[in-house]
Amino acid sequence: MSSRLTKKSARSKPKPHATALWGGHFAHAPAEAFAAINPSVAIDQRLWREDIEGSLAHATMLAACGILTKKEATVITSGLKKIHHEIESGRFVFKTDLEDVHLNIESRLKEIIGDVAGKLHTARSRNDQVTTDLRLYLRREMEALNDALKSLQAVLIKRAEPHTDTIMPGYTHLQPAQPISFAFHLLSYVEMFGRDRTRLEDARVRLNQSPLGACALAGTSYPINRNMTAKALGFDSITASALDSVSDRDFVLEIAAALSITAMHLSRLSEELIFWSTPQIGFVRLHESFTSGSSIMPQKRNADGAELVRGKSAHIAAQFNGLISMMKGLPLAYNKDTQEDKRALFFALDETKLCLSVMTGMIETLDVNASAMRRACALGYINATDLADFLVQHHAVAFRDAHHITGKIVKRAEEKQIALEAVSLAEMRKEYKALSSAVHNFIALDACLARRTSAGGTAPVQVKRAMKEARKQWL
Ligand code: ARG
Repeated sequence: MSSRLTKKSARSKPKPHATALWGGHFAHAPAEAFAAINPSVAIDQRLWREDIEGSLAHATMLAACGILTKKEATVITSGLKKIHHEIESGRFVFKTDLEDVHLNIESRLKEIIGDVAGKLHTARSRNDQVTTDLRLYLRREMEALNDALKSLQAVLIKRAEPHTDTIMPGYTHLQPAQPISFAFHLLSYVEMFGRDRTRLEDARVRLNQSPLGACALAGTSYPINRNMTAKALGFDSITASALDSVSDRDFVLEIAAALSITAMHLSRLSEELIFWSTPQIGFVRLHESFTSGSSIMPQKRNADGAELVRGKSAHIAAQFNGLISMMKGLPLAYNKDTQEDKRALFFALDETKLCLSVMTGMIETLDVNASAMRRACALGYINATDLADFLVQHHAVAFRDAHHITGKIVKRAEEKQIALEAVSLAEMRKEYKALSSAVHNFIALDACLARRTSAGGTAPVQVKRAMKEARKQWL
């Protein structure tokens, strides 16, 4: 071992470790590479608000339990409030050599109030501190996410409203299948984003327990009152096991998993927008403000917003994978590996919020081309199922036979390159002699749409009802 780095660090002066707060028994400064890998403050400084919030509750509790004097708690509290102010107004300088947000704030507290700052960390550890902060932070983030999902749902419902009679081809296998309405299509996404909201809500129940007071891993010998800090911080209860509390990151995983599902939904909707907006389909035109041109092809209007959402969804989903892989080999209790949870989680949170706002904007501003949708219905024989149903309902033909007869009529239409409803009665009767002349009215596209009145179906009456329900349930 004779790398420059090793020699340099081995020869480093026997001065106290840069992080004096825990450096009591250290003789050497950190190696350059270690100083690069160890700090997390660039990532976790966004937890400052929650860190101070947690410290305020902790100091108040310590005084109430007689562990600190009232005077000490007051001094600590006013110091913390000053720091809050400094950070909020952008005057606080986070220092990398102070490792993380917790040590940055504690060091500053010492600068402001002196040695009494050292008493704040009584009956606490960074292990319970960091998970407390993260839970508090996520509570806020989940509200923001919920609001963003709700706004998207509101826009989807608003844009769906005038389109309960706007017929478009519904697809399976991306092949024209049956007529549906544009409103029906949009409302299905309202359901998806609604489930996303309930997943987050559900995760919040398990997340909202206070780990504060678990200390390093084993609890503490000080007569603390964990319920008091839990209550002050708005937690529903305290966690049951100190050991579990400092090592558990299930709440991070649950949220990351929920975000991957949301991202997947966003990606699917993006794919629809990309498909719908290609001129060959032309069902929608995305607003210029969410598209871009090409540096070489002057005619282009590319769906970059939608494509980026689709692309980013892969990376959002990947964060869950990273997190679960990071966790799966960890023995109890705290391990520094988990410092890496925040990078992944914050990335997923930030990107999901960005994608949600882009999607909301794209839906809000797109132009709907109802006549292109109707024109597309002329391709692909999307009323063929209805023709078979007509044979069943009016002529008591068994469905299998009806399917076969209809297939033959479709073949005739294909040969003539016309829509099914354009095939004459005489031509249809070549396949089924007794065919009633009511068939053409029956297979008219609007009639096909209006007939699907089963619960959750595409009939305008049903979609109007669903829209009302959706408003009530989600907005
Ligand atoms: N920065 C650390 C993290 O994010 C805080 C906890 C450190 N605890 C420790 N024992 N080193 O996980």
